[in-house]
Amino acid sequence: MQENLDWHAARAALEWQIELGATECIGDAPSDSYAVPAEAPWKTRASPAPRRSAARPAAQAAAPPPDPAADPVAVARAAASAAADLDALRAAMAAFEHCELKKGARNLVFSDGQPAARLMIVGEAPGREEDRQGKPFVGRAGQLLDRMFAAIGMGRDTPDPARALYITNMLPWNPPGNRDPSAQELAMMRPFVERHIELADPQVLVLMGRISTGALLDTREGITRLRGQWRTLMGRPCLPMLHPAYLLRTPAAKRHAWADLLSLQARMRELP
Ligand code: URA
Repeated sequence: MQENLDWHAARAALEWQIELGATECIGDAPSDSYAVPAEAPWKTRASPAPRRSAARPAAQAAAPPPDPAADPVAVARAAASAAADLDALRAAMAAFEHCELKKGARNLVFSDGQPAARLMIVGEAPGREEDRQGKPFVGRAGQLLDRMFAAIGMGRDTPDPARALYITNMLPWNPPGNRDPSAQELAMMRPFVERHIELADPQVLVLMGRISTGALLDTREGITRLRGQWRTLMGRPCLPMLHPAYLLRTPAAKRHAWADLLSLQARMRELP
């Protein structure tokens, strides 16, 4: 493979192949297709623009490589704790070079909703649509999330802090192929999430799904056991819930989500 091939262009080219219907790599030996002369037909034919590189923020292109000897968790902790407000935290995350996911992402997905909301939701990681739009929970699962919270009178566009939502994720970058975040990725981004919670200072937290629940509560217990059980995280009540993407796959579990929403609504009403 061409050594100086841009990561984004390579990924976009692979995604393009998948959209064309390629399902597997064939051939016993790798073939260097980049050895084709510059006037090769594919160079002159109008080809689709690499989808990700087109929108890549300039800050990502210009970033210096990270110090390979540095401990990513310690770097993240120092950067996060130095952030005095949410804008500074976003900038610190954008400048963090230790997470490989950043290279493949179009956008840093920081948050959506009202930072003054009493309720903050922590999801898993952006999907493709979130990566495209730069906002958390805007794909199919996000639309279900909006409907779920609308059913108890809450929403991300509601200015009233008592009914507003503030939404973020464990990871701000879309993992390739929507795979699960790795333990290392979660560990290095956790200081940013914790600082995010400190700065937004919600009264109540919802951990949306098994990934954020496992990572922030330091547990391997399954989400189907933990959902609906109030816990304390960073000094505030916190409710693990089933992820809307799981509910889309498992509609029968929606009754549990409804029970948890009612529990949340009751808790929110008790707040001073
Ligand atoms: N799933 C998540 O956990 N977060 C998103 O932003 C989108 C889907």
